Amino acid sequence: MWKFLKFLLIFTLFIAAASESAANSWWESASFYQIYPRSFKDSDGDGVGDLNGITEQLSYLKEISITATWLSPIFTSPMADFGYDVANFTEIDPIFGTLEDFEQLLAKAKELGVKIILDFVPNHSSDECEWFIKSAKSDPEYKDFYIWHPGKISENGTRLPPTNWISVFRGSMWTWNDERQAYYLHQFHVKQPDLNYNNPKVREAMKDVLRYWVRKGVAGFRVDAVPHIYEVAADAEGNWPDEPSNPSVADPADYGYLQHIYTTNQPETLDVVYEFRQVLKELDEELGGDEHILMTEAYSPLDVLMQYYGNGSTDGAQIPFNFVLLSNVNKNSNAYDYEQQIHDWLDNMPAGSVANWVLGNHDQSRIGIRLGVDRMDLINVLLKTLPGVSVSYQGEEIGMTDVSISWEETVDPQACQSSIEEFESLSRDPVRTPFQWNDGHKAGFTDSNTTWLPLAEDYKLVNVKRQRGIANSHLNVYKQLQNLRATKTMSDGEAEVKAISENVIGIKRFLSGERTYVALLNLNDDLESINLNDAFGDLTVELEYILVTDKSVRRKGDKIYADSIVMLPKEAVVLGTIV
Ligand code: NOJ
Ligand code: MG
Repeated sequence: MWKFLKFLLIFTLFIAAASESAANSWWESASFYQIYPRSFKDSDGDGVGDLNGITEQLSYLKEISITATWLSPIFTSPMADFGYDVANFTEIDPIFGTLEDFEQLLAKAKELGVKIILDFVPNHSSDECEWFIKSAKSDPEYKDFYIWHPGKISENGTRLPPTNWISVFRGSMWTWNDERQAYYLHQFHVKQPDLNYNNPKVREAMKDVLRYWVRKGVAGFRVDAVPHIYEVAADAEGNWPDEPSNPSVADPADYGYLQHIYTTNQPETLDVVYEFRQVLKELDEELGGDEHILMTEAYSPLDVLMQYYGNGSTDGAQIPFNFVLLSNVNKNSNAYDYEQQIHDWLDNMPAGSVANWVLGNHDQSRIGIRLGVDRMDLINVLLKTLPGVSVSYQGEEIGMTDVSISWEETVDPQACQSSIEEFESLSRDPVRTPFQWNDGHKAGFTDSNTTWLPLAEDYKLVNVKRQRGIANSHLNVYKQLQNLRATKTMSDGEAEVKAISENVIGIKRFLSGERTYVALLNLNDDLESINLNDAFGDLTVELEYILVTDKSVRRKGDKIYADSIVMLPKEAVVLGTIV
């Protein structure tokens, strides 16, 4: 009898444990939103956005049902790369506010139920970081914190950089330091020296950064520039090989001039990600409560990205950013191209992992420019109806577009280091302009008469306040999509994604016992007649319009036969089965 009871108890515990692990973690169908703090909301009238500005506007994130927001760097920085050059990883830069301001932001976010994710920049620090200053002085504790090399002496006796490697922001990846009498490596700007991950002390110092912010209450990290963390190992003499050139690029200072086989995607990089996750897992265990997450930034080949998820025995990032819809489709892509890109990700993920979809960030042209202003809603419908995690960049929910910025007004180092002829194709300033809140002074971004980047001219038409009042504005389409995402079908259901014709993408979302939804997107200007029964099984004879955009003549609530749907130019709709 006791034996049986014991068995029953163990069995019950086992079931409880199993269903607990099967329960979705908070992030698995979450809507993420990237804030670029300099450009979101300025509270102190200096023309640059700040933490108190974000705190003021957190209720907006709630209004658009955001689960978590990731903030581009807010740490002490000389701003050579607008915060991606960190001088102190555990301090707030005064331009953004104080640690108390950040704590207040966290408290308000908690109250509202919005999670805060910080940007973690492991690859490099600022050259004004104390670690680098000490390293340049050969301080015993810090001398190997960075990557130093005396260079090569050429036949005519002049000193040359150790390799031909080129930095992402143009020119040699090596810069001479007089004090240390050696070159240091910088994959990005000269003011962004690369940390040396072969030094266990560096790894530990950076893990301490993660620990510090998690203990303050952040929900996780977006991890910057992961593929650049390691370079190939040096040979016995401490030298590295040159990289082969790329015949399609003629300019020897351009990053594209070389094939980066020794400076990106080195296998050791994966271990670093796994180690960072391990730190978070230890904290999860210690602190209890919600799981902490890693979102890794890597523009890497698919097979490498899949390994970021983990290697079967070791966990990696929960969200290795998926840029297929950001990098691999363009204005001319047809429905088959989209289908293939989406399936590439879905069909190659390791078992048990969750998909994510990133449509924009502070480094890439905005959706309207990349894929067409008249496809704005259509792309948001795609983002929000695909299974898993969605990641939006600030302003995409109201259809902000790139702002043209003159050479004189350009501040992005990637563009400033090029020329007046070339800067436009390199500048990231156009996607970083002030957020458009309303049609008032400086679009409600600041009380100041100047802003750190010019404001878009279209702000009187494209702003949150105005779009709140227009039934099928981008903002209201976005909000409706967010409501739809809250349904069980969308958060837990399965997905079937297919091209229905060259122009039409269909996404069916279904879950046993729940309503089925089908999103249909007509990419182009042809009228499309669709028999949905040919594309997807198990639909009701009639379907109901759950969501329409301003391209539709149909209204929400209208009914339609599944076998005779007409899609208008650039129309995107969500249909639901009749229950
Ligand atoms: C990627 C960031 O998104 C970009 O803005 C930055 O310039 C580089 N990493 C270097 O940190
Ligand atoms: Mg300010």
